Amino acid sequence: MSVSLPLIFCAIDTPDMNAARHLAAAMQEAGCGIKLGLEFFNANGPQGISAIRNTHPELPLFLDLKCHDIPNTVGGAVRAVASLAPAYLTLHASGGATMMRTAQDAANEEALRLGIAPMALLGVTVLTSLDDAALGAIGQVPPVERQVLRLAKLAQDSGLAGIVCSGHDIAPVRKDIGGDLVLMVPGIRPAGSAAQDQKRIMTPQEALRSGATHLVIGRPITEAADPGAAAAAILAGQNVVNTAPVKNKYI
Ligand code: C5P
Repeated sequence: MSVSLPLIFCAIDTPDMNAARHLAAAMQEAGCGIKLGLEFFNANGPQGISAIRNTHPELPLFLDLKCHDIPNTVGGAVRAVASLAPAYLTLHASGGATMMRTAQDAANEEALRLGIAPMALLGVTVLTSLDDAALGAIGQVPPVERQVLRLAKLAQDSGLAGIVCSGHDIAPVRKDIGGDLVLMVPGIRPAGSAAQDQKRIMTPQEALRSGATHLVIGRPITEAADPGAAAAAILAGQNVVNTAPVKNKYI
């Protein structure tokens, strides 16, 4: 099965329901998806996601909840959000192979039960806030780049559809691990826009040339005077039509 998903998922990082509603409407109009994460989820709960889903049932949703717990608990967490029908959900690859397999099994079983397409799970490799020293301090083996590859391979071997990675990880992951992983890439800045707190940024064009599947773009869109126009301008600036196949071992 192949599902056509948007190139850009706009990061809606707000606890404010009204702001989220307005941005969701603008992103639907612009042909983007939305990423809702812990900030929105913890403020508004699954009911908040449902409210946006009910208004925009076709708007592709990336649920960035970065699950990390024992396999049984993560499996339960995945089941609990399945009815929200996200296209993507994140979990930490460092939770291990059994956790990832259990999560993907739960996603597929629950989708079958609900009669919907299964969500694709994405492994978070190394948070970009961690450098080599911070990685060593939590007992993981630096350098960061090697640990990203190690966790990306583990995610792939555990049946996940893809990973979240920085723009600078795209080329090594594509080279070492292969072509069909979904690569969801944050830290994207259109040429000329402010880096803000992002340290290692890439333009949309650079990331796509390297092999990104999707781009996560937040503030360059959400803080624009007209978010829909900003998203449309970014899409118009690169000539890539994205029909990324959602693939995992079950679909
Ligand atoms: O484009 P902007 O910097 O506003 O987007 C930030 C979004 O990307 C946030 O939702 C953040 O959680 C996410 N993100 C990131 N860096 C990562 C992983 C995710 O900025 N390594």
